[in-house]
Parts: sequence; structure tokens; C-alpha cells
Amino acid sequence: ETFYLKDYAPFGFVVESVELTFRLAPETTRVLSKIRFAPNPDAPDRHFFLHGEKLKLISSRINGEAVTPVLTDTGLTCDVPDQPFTWEAEVEINPQANTALEGLYMSNGMYCTQCEAEGFRKITYYPDRPDVMSTFSVRIEGEEKVMLSNGNPGDRGAGYSEWHDPWPKPAYLFALVAGDLVNHPDRFSTGSGKDVELNIWVRPGDEDKCAFGMEALKKSMTWDEEVYGREYDLDVFNIVAVDDFNMGAMENKGLNIFNSSCVLASPETSTDANFERIEAIIAHEYFHNWTGNRITCRDWFQLCLKEGLTVYRDAQFTADMRSAPVKRIEDAIDLRARQFPEDNGPLAHPVRPEAFQEINNFYTATVYEKGAEVIGMLKRLVGDEAYYTALDLYFERHDGQACTIEDWIKVFEDSTGRDLAQFKNWYSQAGTPRVSVQDSYEGGTYTLTFRQTTPPTPGQDHKDPKVIPIAVGLLNPNGDEVVPTTVLEMTKAEQSFRFEGLSARPIPSILRDFSAPVILTRETSAEERAFLLAHDTDPFNRWEAGRELAKASRIAMVTEGASPDAQYLDALQSLVRDDALDPAFRALVLSPPSESEIAQALADQGVTPDPDAIHDAAETFAQTLAQNLSDSLPRLFAATKVEGPYKPDARDAGLRALNGRILALLTRIDGAEAAAKQFETADNMTVQNTALACLLKAEKGEAQSQAFYEQWQDDRLVMDKWFALQVATARPERAPGVAEALTRHPLFTIKNPNRFRAVMGALSMNHAGFHQADGSGYRLLADQLIALDPLNPQTTARMCTALQTWKRYDADRQEKILTELKRIKAVDGLSRDTNEMVSRILDA
Ligand code: ARG
Ligand code: ZN
Repeated sequence: ETFYLKDYAPFGFVVESVELTFRLAPETTRVLSKIRFAPNPDAPDRHFFLHGEKLKLISSRINGEAVTPVLTDTGLTCDVPDQPFTWEAEVEINPQANTALEGLYMSNGMYCTQCEAEGFRKITYYPDRPDVMSTFSVRIEGEEKVMLSNGNPGDRGAGYSEWHDPWPKPAYLFALVAGDLVNHPDRFSTGSGKDVELNIWVRPGDEDKCAFGMEALKKSMTWDEEVYGREYDLDVFNIVAVDDFNMGAMENKGLNIFNSSCVLASPETSTDANFERIEAIIAHEYFHNWTGNRITCRDWFQLCLKEGLTVYRDAQFTADMRSAPVKRIEDAIDLRARQFPEDNGPLAHPVRPEAFQEINNFYTATVYEKGAEVIGMLKRLVGDEAYYTALDLYFERHDGQACTIEDWIKVFEDSTGRDLAQFKNWYSQAGTPRVSVQDSYEGGTYTLTFRQTTPPTPGQDHKDPKVIPIAVGLLNPNGDEVVPTTVLEMTKAEQSFRFEGLSARPIPSILRDFSAPVILTRETSAEERAFLLAHDTDPFNRWEAGRELAKASRIAMVTEGASPDAQYLDALQSLVRDDALDPAFRALVLSPPSESEIAQALADQGVTPDPDAIHDAAETFAQTLAQNLSDSLPRLFAATKVEGPYKPDARDAGLRALNGRILALLTRIDGAEAAAKQFETADNMTVQNTALACLLKAEKGEAQSQAFYEQWQDDRLVMDKWFALQVATARPERAPGVAEALTRHPLFTIKNPNRFRAVMGALSMNHAGFHQADGSGYRLLADQLIALDPLNPQTTARMCTALQTWKRYDADRQEKILTELKRIKAVDGLSRDTNEMVSRILDA
């Protein structure tokens, strides 16, 4: 069954209140519901249908009288009065058997829930759609030490605890947690003087990994007050860490539930990248309290309304807490690695999709990250002040409502007076725009001429021109900026912009700060790129110039058998030694483009990428760079070492990132001596992990890998790193075999999404390893997906994206991928989730 945006109709009833009682038992939990319904004056269709899946209905009553509803696989219908009435039901569910991790399930002996998007229907019969909002009162009966739900705590006694959430919410924001938990408590006083109790709840033993998350939460609360004027609105804010979780975290009202990998942090067990990610995800979930919870989505097609905006807000937060240019570069790398392949392949869909079979398949890089880029473009077009004025209006006008993208756009139109009809194309038309640019200079006037086209995507042949904010600056040949950053507003398929009064032909810096999620192409010389890499005042474009040089060199190596580009090697060497530059920035300039990115760049040029050749070129390039730098590497390595106690802040993390890049190069020439020494003396996970990665890559890390294993075998999150590292560092021809062996390791479990992703995700990201010509990578992935699908459809479907780029490769590889896709599709009883993904990948 396919659901369409155009079919939206409101539910025939409003829900005035919900009372739930849970009688917890691992295999036979009883859920009693008492729901006040009233006819919805805005909805003509009074058909009473409640969603419900995998529920055993024990009894049901309307206004106290037993009724016999008609049950189907997806819910129930019933005759109901034409006036307000009370629906009561008792159902039985089996949390212990719930391996899909959706609805109420058990993780390590603790009860927890995940209801977004449509999991509440696995808890009880309910109109499980985001435009049905109600207050919830919850009573939990059980023997667990801690029993939590949304909102403010109520009565509590032996064997029960009660909760009341005064803010109307859709069912997807419902949450319940019960178990033997301990808390890391704190308090926060809001701007208006409200005292809020904060807790991070974890399993005993993890108490010492909560402090960083708690600081991140308090910083987020302060930031949202200062920047968006948004205060917290309950007496308590609870966060719970759960080991088995399909996604990163969930913004349930007043009770955020986190994948433990996204909240637990300690210097000994977490890397700098983990710390940064945890800070961002805590912020993201907290920010949802306003953008998602107080203002929610009318239907799931509007998912980007809350996700794009909240990702945008968490990116702003990270930029403020750390380095704005570094965050922007990281986001561009991520967008190109995850969203561009999606937008340019069989799974392409608009930021606001118009059809789906399984909504969980649309929690994508397009909805989230491109959705955030769209907000960023809007802000760049209207300006900062108008943006915040519009946001004030959004909160004022729509608080308590379930909204659409139209509502969002209207707020900007009303507050700025702009017509945003064309801008809306960003929401409705899929595909990454290609922007090409040509320039000319005559009589002091410099002209930039842009052309935009967006290739067809599945189901969308025709694309209209988009509104593209193109931030441009001009430099003169001495490296001085003669025109500071200016935002050009491109609206047509082809458009020219003139700059007058220039005394010499300038060097343009185009798409500064990555001002739009487009692919910019420009015929230009390596000299000009090297000039920008040395002189651009815009840090993003400075990095970008280096990236372009790297790609061009790599492509020439693969297609023409060229040597690594000497000019680029020189530029890298001077950058790496330039102490005036932020170490984090230098680390980014030193990080090579991924092999998958090179494969895509080749495919874009009409060249069939050869994964082995791409891998060899990457190795040759790194080896040459290491050799050219060999005299200075030991000194650089010593000079970038972070002294003193470990701190996860941006400064130290940046320096460690640079130090790690240098160690990777040094390992290529010193017989892995420095890496071995660093492993020996490591007192934090960042340097221990980096050293082990270097050693394994050099195939000199067997003893250290064993030592790491023995040290950390009881720590699930660190063991995920160990599993992933084996696969990520394996030589391509060994990678599928290494991954396969790990799936038989005693600590491997297919039921834990983190562990599954550690192995299978790492394989799919080892580009040349996954794409081994014998098809062994594809075969292993398909075997594992077929095994996982009956247990956990959501994670299975998500992992199918590893195959979305199949059309890039040669006929032989295509054939082998196709065989595996067809094998998956032919599985009897394949989940709706996986079936939809595989079908879409196959159809295009
Ligand atoms: N709303 C959550 C977030 O953005 C994601 C939850 C998605 N879960 C799912 N099963 N689709 O943090
Ligand atoms: Zn979110």
C-alpha cells in the first residue's frame, strides 16, 4: 500500500484526553487505555478507525458498555455515538519478543519505547497520526526501580508511578521507560526563573559517563533561550540511555531516549568525534521541544518541517560552541557523502516526499540534511534579522499545532513580504542542481554567468529552476579581497551578474560557505585553485579549493596513470606546516576525499569507476605525501601532540585530529613505530583508537588489537569501535572475509543495531573492499540483511542504501549487485520496509 500527500484528510474525531495504565511483564504487558473522543467539527468523515498492530485485544468498551469492534491486521473499526464518548480498551503485548525495537520493547532487561513514526499502534489501539494531539496521563505498575513517562511526575508508591503531560502531543512523542536505572541529576533555572530538574538515566556502572551529556544539555537550554527565545516548559527533563536502538535518539516530550552511543561519554572510552556528536545530538533532541513537539507535523510527509529545522538549529549550536568554518566543512563532507548519492540515484525523493509505503524509510539524509540546507538558504536570502523575526512569528502563530511546509513558508512570506513560490521548489523537486559558471572581464567590469540544471529523478522528469543563493567574493591577484562576500540570488536557468570598477581581472571565490547544496562546476586552472587554497578569506572555499585539487589529481591518476600532482603536494606541505592556521582546519585539508566520492566524480564525468584503481591511487597519493614530508613528519608529530589532561573541547580535539593525520602519514614511513608507542602510552580513547587504526592499516597491529580487545571486551560501545576498525582498515581483498569472520565472533549479535552497523556499515564504507570484483562483499551484505529482516526491518531497510549506487559500476559488478538485490526481494515474507527499499533501488 502506498500513501500519498494529496490524500490527506483530517481524522473524524478529536481526542480530548488519554489515560493509560501499564501493567508491566516482559512477555505479557497489559495496556489499559481510556480515551475521550469527540466528533471533529472540521472533518466530515466520521469513520472510526484506530490503528493497532500485533495487539491482543482483551476487552473494549464505549461509555462503559462492552463493544465488539471489527479487527484487521492494521487496526479496528467500531460503531460509535455521534457525540463525545469514552473509549476503553485492554490489550496485551509482548515486549520481550519485540526485536524490531518499535513500540514497547526490552533492552538489557529494561523496558523502553520508540514510537516515532508509527510505533504507538503497537502499544494500544489509537489514531496514530501526528495531527491528533492530546494530553496524556500515565500510570505504570511494575516492580522496576525506576518507571518514567512524559511530562511531570505525579503520585508514586510501592509498585507504581504516575505521570501527567499537560502539553497536548501526538502519540509518536509518547515514551515509557522502566528498569533498574541510576541517574546523574542536575538542575537548570530558565530565563523566567522556572526551576527544572534534569536527569540522565543509565544502567548501574555507566554513571561516570553522564557528565558531558549533562553539560551539553544545559548549554543547549541556555542557547535556545538566547538565540531563539525558547524556554523549557516542564518541571523535569529526563534523558535515558538505551543499548538497543535503531536510530540516534528520540525527542519524546520530557523523556528523551538515546542510543547509548549518542549520550554516554568518557575520555577513556569515547573519541573526540563521539564527544562532538553527543553534544550535537543532545542539542538536537532538546531543540525538538519547540521545533517538533510544541509545533509538530500535520502528517509524515511534512517530516522535514521538524527535522530540517532542528538539524539546522543543532548545526548553528555546534558552530557557536566550536568552530563555525570547521562545522560547515564537516557538514558539506557529510552531505556529499550521504545526501548527494541519494539525490542522484534510485532513492532520490524531494525534501518533502509525496508518497511512501513505509515512512521509516524516509528518515533520510535528504529530509534531514538537505532539509537543513533549505533552511540555511532561506536564512541567507532573507537575512539574519528577518529570519529571527519570522521564527518568532512561527512560534507565536503555530504553537500547539500540527503544521505543514505551507504554514512554514507562509510565515516567511507574511513577515518579509517576499514571494517564496519559487523557493518552494526546494521542497518539492528532488535532485542536486548542477551549477556551471563562466566569467569574463572587460573594461573594469567582471561578469559571472551561471547556468543551472537539475537532472531527472525517479518519477520527476521535469525540473524548474530553483532559487539559489550564491555567495561570491572577489580577490585581486595579490590576494586582497576586492569584493567582500555578496549573495547573488539566482532564479533563472541562466543568469549573469556584473561587478564594476575593477582595476584588474579578479579571482572569483564562488559558493562561499557552501551557500547552496549544489554541484558547482567551473573550468579553471590548478594555479587558480592553488591560489585560492593559499589566499581565500572564506575558510570553506579555501578548503574547497584544496578538495578540488585533490579530486583532480586523483582522477588524473586513475584515468591517465598520472603521478600525484606536484603543485598540490607542495600546497599541502606548506599548509600542514602553517602554524597560523587552525589545527582542525589543517586536519580537514589533509583528509583525503573518500574513495566513494572519487567514484562518484568519475561517474559524473562518464567514466566507469574501478574501485581497485581508485584505492591504489589513494594509497599512492598518501605514500607520496608521506615521503615528501618525511623529514618534517617526526617534528610535526611531536609539535602537534596535546599536552595535559584530556579535554574534549574544539581546540584540543582539532589538534588531536591534526596529530592523527600526521601519525597516519608517519606510520607509512617509520615502520609503525610511533603508532605502537602511542598505543602503549595512550590515556584516552581518541589517541588509542587512532594508534590502533594506524597499526591495523599497516598490518602491524595484531598484538595491539588483542590487547585492546582484552581491555575493553566488557564495554559494548568500545567493542563496536573494535569491530568497525577491523573491517575499515582491512585491505580491500581481505575486507569481506574479515567482516564475515566477525559475524561469527562470540560478541557479534545481529540483534543489536550498533553492533550490526559496526561490521556491516564499516564494510559498506570500505569502498574497494565492499566492491570486490568477486561479489563477496555484496553477497555477505545480502546474507546478513536476509537474516536481519525478520527481526528488525527498520535497520535492514536502512542498510540497503549501501547498494543504491550500483548503476555507477561496471556491468560485471552491476550484475552481481542485481543478483543480490533480487535474492533479497524474493525472500518469503520480506518486510514492507525492506521490500520498498529494494524495489526502489531496482526500479530506477
Ligand atoms: N525524531 C528522531 C530524531 O530526529 C528520529 C527518530 C526516528 N525513528 C524512526 N524509527 N524513524 O532525532
Ligand atoms: Zn530530529
